[in-house]
Amino acid sequence: MSAHGAPQPLISRAAGALKGEAIIPGDKSVSHRALILGALAVGETRITGLLEGQDVLDTARAMAAFGATVTRTGDGAWTVRGVGVGGFAEPEDVIDCGNSGTGVRLIMGAMATTPISATFTGDASLRRRPMGRITDPLALFGARAHGRRGGRLPLTLVGAADPVPVSYRLPMASAQVKSAVLLAGLNAPGITEAIEPEATRDHTERMLRGFGAVVEVAEAEGGGRLIRLTGQPELIAQTLAVPRDPSSAAFPMVAALLVEGSEVVLPGIGMNPTRTGLIQTLREMGADLEARQSREEGGEPAADLVARYSALKGVEVPPERAPSMIDEYPILAVAAAFAEGKTVMRGIGELRVKESDRIDAVARGLEAMGVRIEETEDSLTVHGMGADGVPGGGTVATHLDHRIAMSFLVGGLASRRPVGVDDAGPIATSFPAFGPLMAALGAPMGAEDDAA
Ligand code: S3P
Repeated sequence: MSAHGAPQPLISRAAGALKGEAIIPGDKSVSHRALILGALAVGETRITGLLEGQDVLDTARAMAAFGATVTRTGDGAWTVRGVGVGGFAEPEDVIDCGNSGTGVRLIMGAMATTPISATFTGDASLRRRPMGRITDPLALFGARAHGRRGGRLPLTLVGAADPVPVSYRLPMASAQVKSAVLLAGLNAPGITEAIEPEATRDHTERMLRGFGAVVEVAEAEGGGRLIRLTGQPELIAQTLAVPRDPSSAAFPMVAALLVEGSEVVLPGIGMNPTRTGLIQTLREMGADLEARQSREEGGEPAADLVARYSALKGVEVPPERAPSMIDEYPILAVAAAFAEGKTVMRGIGELRVKESDRIDAVARGLEAMGVRIEETEDSLTVHGMGADGVPGGGTVATHLDHRIAMSFLVGGLASRRPVGVDDAGPIATSFPAFGPLMAALGAPMGAEDDAA
């Protein structure tokens, strides 16, 4: 992975129409959870469609370090023989979660109520990200964390010997924090409550129920969503099919919207309503995005999507939509550059603590492409230049952030001049086959050397 190796520059340039079928890899959020709940269940969980990106492979390795037997049996096919709730063994070495905030935060939650210690680290991006948002609620269960300044990694977590259940109101809309609280609640006696200010992705709640836990969801008093988990269930191994990741589908989907004459079919994409904010927003912008064959796959809604070239117009994205498209703002901002009129995205302060400061990374990248933007602490405005009006050119700094890299490579396909990214290596964390997939649709991307 380039996080530890040489940067891999990549360049994209105007392509002919994109055509064909895009087979998107498994959902990253669901893949992490399948491995972690499989490791906490009794018996052998069988998973198909697992994302084999570096983030998820790091979580698989971590689950083995905590005592589960994790085996790859085929392409995207894995089995996990779990140790049962409270059964984690103390890892013998440091747990390296690489680039993955979801991995490290969910695993910390899962071990926080077991009387063992573990030390966590990650790459330069993950070591910059705040962990206090996780260790604060875990301290209420009785766990203790010793990290660097600001609670940053490397960090040692000492699990609670006598955990108590917790009622925790999240200060921010974060599925990672909610999930860490619920996973910690698994080994606490009694009822653990997480109260979120706005609904965030609910894969943990759905999957916990699937494994046999009792999880109730209600409106919270004073607003928001209340999730109640009954502690110390016996989780029973499951057979799980991971849906295809809507956050990865976003890249070829937007590419098809931006490149004239394109039509791309994306089969079996996860359509959980807590994840579909981008689709809603693009439709409001005038995108021709069709959902066919809506169905349920592995306990999650799914559909086949068809994306066709569309003239887009700028919109205001309501702040309350942010949780349902939190990872999609970089690609939305790129799409907005090719729209007529301005697009305003408010209430997106959480983007500053992702794999990179995504408001800053997107703003600098759009400037490098000749697009006018305005930026505040928690908002971004993009002044659209129309379908053929984006100059392009320039090289975008990706800051170890896969979604920044993919977003700007998509932008280069519709700009007047090519767009480069300084490092495409991090794409392997979530979408290892992005390059070949785009090439098969008709949009090959090359190293900077071949781009003269
Ligand atoms: C995720 C939650 C989100 C999202 C991340 C995946 C999850 O993070 O950005 O890519 O799987 O729970 P936050 O909880 O920080 O919003």
